[in-house]
Amino acid sequence: MDKKDLFYSIARPNIRDMEEYDPGPTYPDFVRISSNENNLGVSRKAIEAIKNAVSKCNRYGDSRCDRLREKLARKHGMIPDQFVIGNGLDGVFTMLGRAFIEPGDEVVCGELTFSVYAEMAEIMGGRTVKVPMTENIELDTGGFIKAVTEKTRMVVFCNPNNPTGTGTGIRDIRKMLDAIPEKVLFVLDEAYIEFADENTADGLTLLNEYPNLMVCRTFSKVYGLAGLRVGWIAGDPELMKYLYKVREPYAVSVPAAAGAEAALDDIEFLTESVEMVRNEKKKFYDFFRTNEISFISSQANFILLPLGEISTGLRDGLLKDGIIVRLLRFRGKGVIRITVGLPEENSLLMEKFMNNYEAAKNKAN
Ligand SMILES: Cc1ncc(COP(=O)(O)O)c(C=O)c1O
Repeated sequence: MDKKDLFYSIARPNIRDMEEYDPGPTYPDFVRISSNENNLGVSRKAIEAIKNAVSKCNRYGDSRCDRLREKLARKHGMIPDQFVIGNGLDGVFTMLGRAFIEPGDEVVCGELTFSVYAEMAEIMGGRTVKVPMTENIELDTGGFIKAVTEKTRMVVFCNPNNPTGTGTGIRDIRKMLDAIPEKVLFVLDEAYIEFADENTADGLTLLNEYPNLMVCRTFSKVYGLAGLRVGWIAGDPELMKYLYKVREPYAVSVPAAAGAEAALDDIEFLTESVEMVRNEKKKFYDFFRTNEISFISSQANFILLPLGEISTGLRDGLLKDGIIVRLLRFRGKGVIRITVGLPEENSLLMEKFMNNYEAAKNKAN
């Protein structure tokens, strides 16, 4: 038998034809404003803690990350048993799939949202039900309610949503939670919540009211630790027990746990990061308005430009100028997601933008 056919027949049927995750280009010397990282770098406190932890790597770490969970509990006025720490939020979604999704289960998420939710469902043999976006390309909370059926096991709602950057307020989150049966798990992904204003819901405030609610956050975004891989989920301790059963025993490395603990204390770095993103977003909005480029106002550290057929040419042109932005697809058309970078990176993008935009537009016509 041909090797390719042989291995195809051995692989689990539901992953055979899956697309591999595509991170896009990541050339180190380019201006990288494509993956919603924090371009300010790594907090000095975290660097120090990571360095100190390296010499302890002959030992396995603390399997449950007790110190980090205690710190998080203190910060958010909760208890450590409400938290599970994972190898990034991606690792948390792996646990969610392993613990809760059976073949045939439906997982409801947005039509244009973070791709890992659908991958989690597919890998487990579940079915993803995508709720169409509203006319303004926002998550449609009413649509989420309507999409829930007898077969729904989990709803995943991203707030602020990646890649649109739009935020949903507490009233609409509550409406969904009130309408959805208790046996359906509701996962709120708040990876970008630190960048949002007070109109975007803070899901942690709802945990005590809704036992089926879980809230996830990450150290990869505002905390500047995307390469370290630490994320967490919070929910009812009785529910969290099932995630502990399926976790990789040492998913969070010793330096990763130490770096995350230290990053939590570096309030200065956090404040500086949030302020930079807020100020720089305003400059982008002015630039896009002046040049009549359509964009979506964002509650996160990135901005989405629904530019259709211009998108591919624009992405390619900017790449030639040493700038990496992210090209995604929505209903078959291109959209460009720009991460808010350092002031000088954003200025360079604005300087190079219009030439590339016009060239891409001419080519598309
Ligand atoms: C909405 C959302 N959730 C989760 C993640 C994954 O984060 P992590 O780096 O913690 O795995 C990302 C990363 O881009 C994201 O955008």
